[in-house]
Amino acid sequence: MDDARFPQLRSPAADEERLPPPASFVEQANVTDESIRREFEQNWPACWKRAATLLDWSTPYDRVLDTDDGYTWFDGGSLNAAYNCVDRHLEAGRKNQAAIKWEGKLGETRTYTYQDLSREVNALAAALRDLGVEADDVVTVYMPMIPELPITMLACARIGAVHSVVFAGFSGDALATRMENSNSEYLLTCDGYYRRGTAYDLKSKADNACLAVPQSVEQVVVDRLGDDRSLGDDYHDYGDLVADHEGADVDPVARDADDDLFLIYTSGTTGQPKAVRHTTGGYLSHVAWTSHAVLDLEPDDTHWCSADVGWITGHSYIVYGPLALGATTVMYEGTPDHPERDRLWEIVERNAVDVFYTAPTAIRAFMKWGSEHPDSHDLSSLRLLGTVGEPIDETAWRWYYEHIGDEECPIVDTWWQTETGGVLLSTLPGVDPMRPGAAGPALPGVEADVVDATGKSVDPGESGSLVVTRPWPGMAASLCEGADPGADSPVTHGTGGWTYRTGDSARVDRDGYIHLLGREGDVINVAGHRLGTTELESAIVGVDGVAEAAVVGGDHDLKGTEVYAYVSPRKNVSATEPLRERVREAVADAIGPFATPDTVVFTPDLPKTRSGKVMRRYLERITNGEELSDTSALRNPEIVGELESIVEDIS
Ligand code: WT7
Repeated sequence: MDDARFPQLRSPAADEERLPPPASFVEQANVTDESIRREFEQNWPACWKRAATLLDWSTPYDRVLDTDDGYTWFDGGSLNAAYNCVDRHLEAGRKNQAAIKWEGKLGETRTYTYQDLSREVNALAAALRDLGVEADDVVTVYMPMIPELPITMLACARIGAVHSVVFAGFSGDALATRMENSNSEYLLTCDGYYRRGTAYDLKSKADNACLAVPQSVEQVVVDRLGDDRSLGDDYHDYGDLVADHEGADVDPVARDADDDLFLIYTSGTTGQPKAVRHTTGGYLSHVAWTSHAVLDLEPDDTHWCSADVGWITGHSYIVYGPLALGATTVMYEGTPDHPERDRLWEIVERNAVDVFYTAPTAIRAFMKWGSEHPDSHDLSSLRLLGTVGEPIDETAWRWYYEHIGDEECPIVDTWWQTETGGVLLSTLPGVDPMRPGAAGPALPGVEADVVDATGKSVDPGESGSLVVTRPWPGMAASLCEGADPGADSPVTHGTGGWTYRTGDSARVDRDGYIHLLGREGDVINVAGHRLGTTELESAIVGVDGVAEAAVVGGDHDLKGTEVYAYVSPRKNVSATEPLRERVREAVADAIGPFATPDTVVFTPDLPKTRSGKVMRRYLERITNGEELSDTSALRNPEIVGELESIVEDIS
C-alpha cells in the first residue's frame, strides 16, 4: 500500500546492484563463513545455541527451545545479566578497560572502566535492596542520557529487579500511565538536564507523575544540574546512596532464562501504550549474538550507537549487547549540531570509534548539512556502519557509505522492533553483499516472509505484509504464548505454522533481500519513533472545542514522516490559532514534545464511510498530494476536494 511513498525502493537499479563487502573488512570479520545460512537452515536452534555460548550461565540450560507449553528459550538455564555485562570482564583481566565513555552536553566527559562500573553497580544494587527492592519488583527509570541510567539498569538486573525505562522526553502524564500500569513503586530520576546549553527540569514532571499514581513511590534523584539543592525528606539522593554503600559486594541473583529482565513501553494500535517484556536468557543471547555477528563488535572495540537508552535500540545496542561482549560503549548526551554541526565526527575522531550505529533520519540531516563537516575529521577508525529505525533511501545510503565510511566500511541496514528485542533482518557484514535500500535477508536461524491478506507468500517484487515465521530468542515474552494466544495477538499458530505479524509492509526481491516500505495500519514512524495514531487522537479530542481528530503521516525530507493532525472543531467553535496551539500542547502533555503534530489542519468534517469509519487512508493520500480515484465509499465525498485545496495551500 505504501509503495508510492518510497519510489526509490522500487527503482529497478535498486534490485540490480549489490556491493560486495569491502575486502579489508572481511579479512577481520567475526563471521565470514558463507555456509552459515545453509547450515542453520537445516538446524536453526543450533544457531541460537551458538549465541548462548557468548554468555556465562550459572546453570546450563537443558534445551535451546522448549515448545511444550508456548516457547521457552534456554529452558532450565539460569544467569545474571549484570554478571555477564560487568563481573566476568573483570575476571577476564579487563578491569581497566573503558566500559562507558560518556560525552556530556556541556562538553564534559566521564569514563567508567569495568572496575568503576562494577563498584557503582554494586553500591547502587545494595542501596536499592535497602530501599526494599526485591527480585521481580518493577523499578521505573526516568533519566536522560547520563551514565547513571545504564548503571541503574545493571543494578536492577543484579538483584533480579525488572527495570522499566521511560524515555526522558515523555511527559509526566506518560510517565504516570506507565508507572501505574506496571504498578511500579520505585522511581529513579534526576533533577533536570541540559539541551543546547539550557537546563530543563525533569524532577517536577517526575513529582507530578508520582502524585498521579495510586501507589506510593520511593524516589531516588540524581543531581545532574549540580546545584546541590537539598531534596527534602521525600527523596533519596542518588549520590548519597551510592556513597553510603561504597564497597558493597552484592551477589548477582541467578535468574531463570525466561525471567523478566526488563519491560519497555511502545505504541501499539490501541490508545494505550503497551508493555513489552524481555526475558533474561533469550534477550541477552540475542543481543550479544547480533552485536557480534551483525555489528561485528569485539571486546577491544569502541562502539557508538547514537540512539537514546530510553528506547529499545539503546537498551540492546548501547547497554546490553556491547557490555555483554566487554566492549567500550559511547554514550552521548547532546544533539548532533550543538555546538557545531561536526559534533558527532569530532566525538568519533577523539574516541577512535570503531562501529557507528545511527538512524536514517540523522543521516539525512548530516547530508543536508554538507560533507565538509565529516570531511574535516579523521574518521579512519571506523570499521562498520549501521542504520536502524526506518527505511533508508539509496541516496542517504550512498552518502553514508562514501562520506562517513570512505567506502571501506560495510553498512548494515538492520530491521527489528521493540518486540523483537534485537536485529532480525540484516546482511552479515563479512558474508553478504549489500544492496542500498534493502535491509537484507533474515539472519541465520531467522525465517521471514512477505504475505498477502490470506497469508500466502507474494511473488518477488510484489508488496505485502512482513511476517516472521519462526520464534527467535529475543522475542518479547508476550509472543511466547502457547497454542491459543488470543484474537488480538500478532502471533498465530495456523496451518502454515507459527507466524508473527510485524505490522510492516515490505517486498522481497529476486535475491531474497527484503525492502521495507513502511508501517501498515494505525502506527506511524516519525524519525524512528513509533507513534500510535489512536494515542495521538485521544489526546487531541480531549481538547475543549475539538469534536474529532484523525492523525496520519505525511512525507518529510528529513524525518521521513511527519505528523499531520486533521481536526474538526465542535459546532460554533472557530478554528483559531489558540485552538491549534492547545491541540499541540495537549499532545506534548499526554505523550511528550517529540510527538507534537507538525501540521494541524482544521476541517469541518473528516472523510467517512457510510458506517461512520474515518478513512485515514484517504487522508494519507490527500496529505501526500496523491490522486484519489474513487471516493464512492464515502458518505461525504465533497470533503475530499475541500481538504485537497486546504492541504495544497499549506504546502
Ligand atoms: C519499526 C519498529 C528497532 C529499533 C527502532 C525502532 C521500523 C526499524 C527498520 C529498518 C525499515 C525499520 C519498522 C519497525 N524499522 N528498523 N532497518 N528499515 N524500517 O523500534 O519503535 O519498535 O519500531 O521501526 O517499521 O516495525 P520500534
